[in-house]
Amino acid sequence: MKYKNNKQTKYKKLSCPICKSNLIIKKGFRKTENRGLIQRFSCKNCSYRFVIDDGFFRMRNNPQKIIYALDLFYRGVSTRKVQFKKVFNMGRLYYKEKRMTEHKIICGDCIEELKKISDEGVDLIVTDPPFNIGKIYNSYADNRSREEYLGWCKSWLNECIRVLKYGGALYLFNYPENNAFLMPFLNDKLTFKRWMTWHYPVNTGMSPTNFTRSQHSILFYIKGDKPKIFNKDDIAEPYRNPTDKRILERIKNGSKGKTPYDVFQFNLVKNVSKDKTSHPCQIPVPLLEIFIKASSNKGDLVLDPFGGSFSTAHACKKLDRNSISIEIDKHYCEIGKMRLQKTAPLKNFI
Ligand SMILES: C[S@@+](CC[C@H](N)C(=O)[O-])C[C@H]1O[C@@H](n2cnc3c(N)ncnc32)[C@H](O)[C@@H]1O
Repeated sequence: MKYKNNKQTKYKKLSCPICKSNLIIKKGFRKTENRGLIQRFSCKNCSYRFVIDDGFFRMRNNPQKIIYALDLFYRGVSTRKVQFKKVFNMGRLYYKEKRMTEHKIICGDCIEELKKISDEGVDLIVTDPPFNIGKIYNSYADNRSREEYLGWCKSWLNECIRVLKYGGALYLFNYPENNAFLMPFLNDKLTFKRWMTWHYPVNTGMSPTNFTRSQHSILFYIKGDKPKIFNKDDIAEPYRNPTDKRILERIKNGSKGKTPYDVFQFNLVKNVSKDKTSHPCQIPVPLLEIFIKASSNKGDLVLDPFGGSFSTAHACKKLDRNSISIEIDKHYCEIGKMRLQKTAPLKNFI
């Protein structure tokens, strides 16, 4: 056999696993399942052929491939089991089958960023804008005049309505005194479904001259005449009188329970809660989950133009929906990324 001298010297440091000789030469390639073609070596002394397993996949630097592989790894699918050439396709398949979702965090002004979303591009909007009550946010002044505030709300609501799909739902959290003023504007453009209330029992904020505030209102609107989706079984609650004859009949006919009332009682996210971030007004994820389950299906795209601590995105992640969240404050965007990265795939964080 003829070998070039320079090739022989290059592998001086290798030694034969059998006879320990240093006379090692390159000898073709071995086709492997996980690492593609890898260099094969041969011992000149005992003719033993071997390969070096450095423990790494031969991964070309295709970022998409790397992301898929990392995702598979974090999801508990051993990347070693993934045939390397197929990692890209397998990743795509995995996303499709397991409905791995994407969660986009956009740090910017919602009106500017909403303009970049195509018409009818999202399936559902759930949002909780600043209430104009002087809350202390990092980079947003929450104390405009009422006219200025309502004008601003109408600007971003116009964009929201444009990007919402026909038949899609809008859930708008706010204080009742703001939502009351926004209703006439929304009634002209969307179909009103329900004025709902989130009641949160509190022991603080008592006033000597007023009743204690313990509610947010949630306006539920549909684009077009009727909702494309209302998954009533997914949000069904146990019947209050399950022994009633008519209820027993309904259960027999497959009913999963009663559709929730339009008043929801959930505590505020407490400081001691594991879920609490430094954001001053976090909405409880289980409350958001009800609206997301009712008005979207798995794999749908949900928009929240006021991300805050990204509770909507978090709920979407739990429920296998994709999400886009916009937040003006960089610090809150960082909080959101951290909160989501704990569970979400690494893909598509901005
Ligand atoms: C009421 S909080 C949302 C809280 C959120 N629902 C949660 O559960 O964490 C409103 C958020 O809107 C953000 N914000 C204010 N003006 C904005 C704008 N023009 N564009 C995007 N976000 C804005 C504020 O920084 C604040 O974090």
